[in-house]
Amino acid sequence: MTLSEIRRPLALSDRAQEFPESPIRKLTPLAEAAKRRGTKVYHLNIGQPDIETPACMRDRLKQMDARVLEYSPSAGTPEYLQSLQHYYERQLGLSLGIDQIIATTGGSEAILFSFLVCANTGDDLLVVEPFYANYRSFAAMAGLNIVPMTSRGRDGFHLPERQVWERTFTPRSRVVIICNPNNPTGTVYRRDELEMVADFCRDHGLFLVSDEVYREFVYDGNRAISALELQGCEDFVIVVDSLSKRYSACGIRLGSLVTRNRTIYNACLRLAQGRLSPPGLAQFIAVGANELDQEYTRSVVAEYQRRRDVLYDGLTAIPGVFLQKPEGAFYCVARLPIDDAERFAAWLLTDFEHDGATVMLAPANGFYASPVGTNEVRIAYVLKEEDLRSAVDLLRIAIQRYNEACATG
Ligand SMILES: Cc1ncc(COP(=O)(O)O)c(C=O)c1O
Repeated sequence: MTLSEIRRPLALSDRAQEFPESPIRKLTPLAEAAKRRGTKVYHLNIGQPDIETPACMRDRLKQMDARVLEYSPSAGTPEYLQSLQHYYERQLGLSLGIDQIIATTGGSEAILFSFLVCANTGDDLLVVEPFYANYRSFAAMAGLNIVPMTSRGRDGFHLPERQVWERTFTPRSRVVIICNPNNPTGTVYRRDELEMVADFCRDHGLFLVSDEVYREFVYDGNRAISALELQGCEDFVIVVDSLSKRYSACGIRLGSLVTRNRTIYNACLRLAQGRLSPPGLAQFIAVGANELDQEYTRSVVAEYQRRRDVLYDGLTAIPGVFLQKPEGAFYCVARLPIDDAERFAAWLLTDFEHDGATVMLAPANGFYASPVGTNEVRIAYVLKEEDLRSAVDLLRIAIQRYNEACATG
């Protein structure tokens, strides 16, 4: 028998088949083609803010005089960890030990670490849908099954009641992830909702991963309650955090994981050692944020609130569009008067333009695990007001034209 006869055909892992395409990015080739045709594309599909990264962070680069770009400690540099300690003290009034925080490569790595540490392959991850689509990727990496509970637009996408959680619970449930303020819905959970989830987790011996990367972005004078503030949850809560949105620094790829459970911390630290270190250059830049005061956050949040209002007023004026006023983050899920949001979002890029421009949306079905959300889209309001107004105008015209085109076959 020759070698070529016994050689097995190349096959990727089963896991590789599970990695989903990003619903936020999958229409990108169509958007690129539209741009090549000379069409301006307003990006409402992705949470990439246009606000400048603060100068005190950018200026740190000029102060960099290291001759060797070294690995940093696996848990993060003392300077970065201390800057986070001060941040939590200032923002949440919480005194955290330096050994309760691990620097991660974005909030993304903190989510992956949490899943890897809290559950075994084949275990169930409970999540309220629609949810941040990349949870699906991290669940696939950790071999977890997503078990969804559906939240509804008519309820402002607030959390389902405890009996729904009880019904959804399975013997393989190990971990719950919530996102507050929420991407994609813009909902900010009340204290009673958070306490209900915490009680549920405590009663069933589940870990609670709380993704709080939009913590600052809350409107109308409210604030987001962190899971770190809930009493009696120290053992089972892991908080995921990020600099991406807080400082409009998505490319810095730096975040953190916070836990007051020593065993979780130690397991995460061993994982962190396995990947050597979080980005050192990013941590050097990040401590520049120590110079920012509350006024920075206030002005950025005020800007997003204005954008939220422009978007909400514009969208609700379009006949047949339904959405609740987003309370936080910079997204909303809107129901459109169309048959299929995925088809519509593609059509916007292939068949529509008005005065040389069109809009890119993220179909919401990619944010659900259940087959729902067919006529919903997720919209990110990360563009300046003038651009948002133009984008909403385009959407109004497009919905009418699309439905006329559908009616005439
Ligand atoms: C809800 C949520 N969690 C986590 C992340 C990941 O953030 P990072 O850029 O820090 O990896 C994002 C990014 O958009 C997000 O929206």
